[in-house]
Amino acid sequence: MNILAPSILAADFKVLGEQIREVDEAGAQYLHIDVMDGAFVPSISFGMPLISSIRSATKRIFDVHLMIQNPERYIEEFARCGADLITVHAEAATHLDRAIQQIHDLGLKAGVALNPATSLHALDYVLDKIDMVLIMTVNPGFGGQKYLDSCTQKIQKLRRWIEETGSSADIEVDGGINQKTIRTVLEAGANVIVAGSSVFKGDAKTNASQLLEIMREYEA
Ligand code: DX5
Ligand code: ZN
Repeated sequence: MNILAPSILAADFKVLGEQIREVDEAGAQYLHIDVMDGAFVPSISFGMPLISSIRSATKRIFDVHLMIQNPERYIEEFARCGADLITVHAEAATHLDRAIQQIHDLGLKAGVALNPATSLHALDYVLDKIDMVLIMTVNPGFGGQKYLDSCTQKIQKLRRWIEETGSSADIEVDGGINQKTIRTVLEAGANVIVAGSSVFKGDAKTNASQLLEIMREYEA
């Protein structure tokens, strides 16, 4: 199934609860939550208090994308804040296998994210243990960047690999997804679509509905 995951990084924080309700009502199944530590990525976004506070705004899946160095240190806390799915970067986790196990032990779904320059080989020994692969389609750290065309082939390659191995992992894409690039990534084989600026700049409910509409065209 194709899933829309609006990224609240681009939302208007003074009316965040309202914005979350809008994308929920539009039918977006996930809420993508970007945590940045100012070390793994240049910027700092938000952390636990914000996530706990918005937990009551929606029943949708909290898709927490940890752009933090050694995420193992905080997995339990993010679970307590209300995360349903936690994604760690292969480049940031010294003990990636252990981090995945930690997430599963807490009863949550586990994802592994790859930066644009990271090879799919980083997944060689973990693909069969994870629920989702997050292919970064921009260099992580900021919203509003341009989709990197070099990532299309990577998504296609991963989709083929997943099919060959019979893995049930989802392919999430994150960065620069708008009404145009969404078609490229869906055709390439992505099925979880993160969208920040293209949802929250302008009318969030209308924007999310339009992206969901396009996604339905590609449903098998
Ligand atoms: C980037 C973040 C993204 C970001 C996407 O580092 O991981 O989730 O919010 O923003 P857009 O959709 O505006 O590129
Ligand atoms: Zn993200």
